[in-house]
Amino acid sequence: MPFFRSTFAGLLVLSACGTPSTPPPTFTKDILPITQAQCAGCHATGGIAPFALDTWEAAKPMAAAMAASVAAKRMPPWLASADCGGPFVDARVLTAEQIALFDAWAKAGAPEGNKSDAPAAPSSAGQRLSRVDATLQMPVAYTPDETLRDDYRCFIVDPAVTKSTMVTAYDIVPGSQKVVHHVILYAASRSKAVAEDAKDTKSGWECFGGVGIDSDGALGAWAPGGSAVVFPFGTGIRLEPTQVLAMQVHYNTDNGREADQTTVKLQYGVGGETAAYLLPLVADGFRIPPSATGYTYSEKFNNTLGFPLKIWGMLPHMHTLGKTITLRAGASTMDTCLVDIPRWDFHWQSQYFRPKAHVLGTNESVEMKCSWDNPTTRTITWGESTSDEMCFAFVYATP
Ligand code: HEC
Repeated sequence: MPFFRSTFAGLLVLSACGTPSTPPPTFTKDILPITQAQCAGCHATGGIAPFALDTWEAAKPMAAAMAASVAAKRMPPWLASADCGGPFVDARVLTAEQIALFDAWAKAGAPEGNKSDAPAAPSSAGQRLSRVDATLQMPVAYTPDETLRDDYRCFIVDPAVTKSTMVTAYDIVPGSQKVVHHVILYAASRSKAVAEDAKDTKSGWECFGGVGIDSDGALGAWAPGGSAVVFPFGTGIRLEPTQVLAMQVHYNTDNGREADQTTVKLQYGVGGETAAYLLPLVADGFRIPPSATGYTYSEKFNNTLGFPLKIWGMLPHMHTLGKTITLRAGASTMDTCLVDIPRWDFHWQSQYFRPKAHVLGTNESVEMKCSWDNPTTRTITWGESTSDEMCFAFVYATP
């Protein structure tokens, strides 16, 4: 107690002497550059988040909530642990200094600052493709099923390539930011996709865990706040004339219901690109007992290809009961951490690309480990439906 009192007294003396203190952060100078880069992708009018944060008027009443949310690392949503595999390309992570700015700004009463300090409004051009070779759209607009909170629907978007073509970058532009919660593009056989689409009169078909037909692999994904994805330089994913893109859209109707017609833009290679594999890692041998907490399951995938594999990126995937998912690589001790998701959240899945590939030697392995809680009275196993689970990842790799 004496210590506290004397410290307190010292502070009073200091401020009474008028020691200059640093001016508090302001919205235009300190906060707006961060929210433009890290929040406005979702917190803008018409965005997936329930309120905008892109003007001082909108952000001021939220200042304390913003500070609390970034301090607790709830926002911006980003599942990968900073201690494993990163820093990833386009990571949505705030620095300790940025988190402190939110706190200091909120405590100072959320001052606006000089209007002239505000950075220019971001042009979305920076996030988009340098060249678009094909623009594809859902055949017709789709309105999510009114009986469902979450509607998973697959649609054909047909690039109609006439020869084997390398996709080197893509940009998925949701038709409605309000209802589109994530999009995954798969390459699939044209005839199978057309047959599946013809099964009912509505556009597309219902699909939860994957596309529901044998796919030839994923091509890419979009989730709120996401921008265009350019594959690592000199690499791409091959698309054949016999294939279409089957696009899985997860519609969530918490923010209301409106029609969506999502667009996919593709950039094709100029020749000479290395074809990447999107290797599916399937750890499907688990049986999660009723009422289990923290049930863990892992499998190892050995590189038996006969050549080293360059691992550039990962897209981990579980369903709604997942708690954690981790990918490690190595010979026997799995000493390289590739990606670790300590708090899995089905709503914020994304892909994690490395700026430099990790080389997986011949006979080295990738180990994937998942854990779940099972609040139900059923034993839960691998499956495509909402009530089943997965321990799955796509790995973007080249020879
Ligand atoms: C990828 C989309 C996305 C990004 C990026 C994002 N938010 Fe959010 N935010 C949401 C959604 C959706 C909700 C409402 C649902 C929820 O709470 O998850 C939300 C809720 C919030 C809330 C209220 C709930 C809470 O956790 O306190 C605050 C405050 C918030 N965001 C602040 C921010 C700030 C500040 C940033 C940037 C530093 C940011 N968000 C970036 C999507 C996003």
